[in-house]
Amino acid sequence: MKVLVISCSPRKDGNTELLLKEAFKGASDAKADVEFLRLQDFRIHPCLECLLCHKAGECVVNDDMQMLYPKLISMDAIIFGSPIFFMSIPAQGKAFIDRCQPFWAMKYLLKREFVPGKRIPRKGVFISVGGTKLTYLFSGAIKVVKSLFKVLEVDYKGELLLKGIDQKGEILKYPDALKLSYELGAKITK
Ligand SMILES: Cc1cc2nc3c(=O)[nH]c(=O)nc-3n(C[C@H](O)[C@H](O)[C@H](O)COP(=O)(O)O)c2cc1C
Repeated sequence: MKVLVISCSPRKDGNTELLLKEAFKGASDAKADVEFLRLQDFRIHPCLECLLCHKAGECVVNDDMQMLYPKLISMDAIIFGSPIFFMSIPAQGKAFIDRCQPFWAMKYLLKREFVPGKRIPRKGVFISVGGTKLTYLFSGAIKVVKSLFKVLEVDYKGELLLKGIDQKGEILKYPDALKLSYELGAKITK
């Protein structure tokens, strides 16, 4: 089973990454083939809205997204992690998601199967952390991630949402949260 762990945080070893590393361990201890992708390390241009993908089912922008598309096709599960930036997800994550428009085109316009040989729907979970304790802190980000999962033929299987975590590495003070992340990583492989 192939699991993709995707981090939208620009902060290396920040709270999102620390949580995702636990989820990574949980999935790899459960014998999954797991890959960690830090979106910050890739060159991902925002969508140009040229709409050429609506005809071809492929994106014409030649950047690192071209090496991520095959991974999104071949994965069986996705662990998507993001901090909250301005009540949503950081630009790194949003650019990545907008560039998934070819999948939307294949699914809804071209009616083309793009995950052949895979069990559909696949599984996904969302892990998020925000600095404040606002009531609706995660609702914007959850909507964005659910809409990505739907387009990628992924069932939203669960979430781990942590409020009031702001300083770099602060999540380490909450071993229970790290344990829950580990467990989520293991659970997604079942
Ligand atoms: C540009 C920016 C915008 C932010 N916006 C919010 C916000 O809207 N609400 C919030 O609770 N925290 C906000 N934060 C705080 C982060 O969510 C918080 O520091 C989080 O722990 C960062 O996670 P990371 O270490 O994984 O990057 C923001 C931080 C930055 C840098």
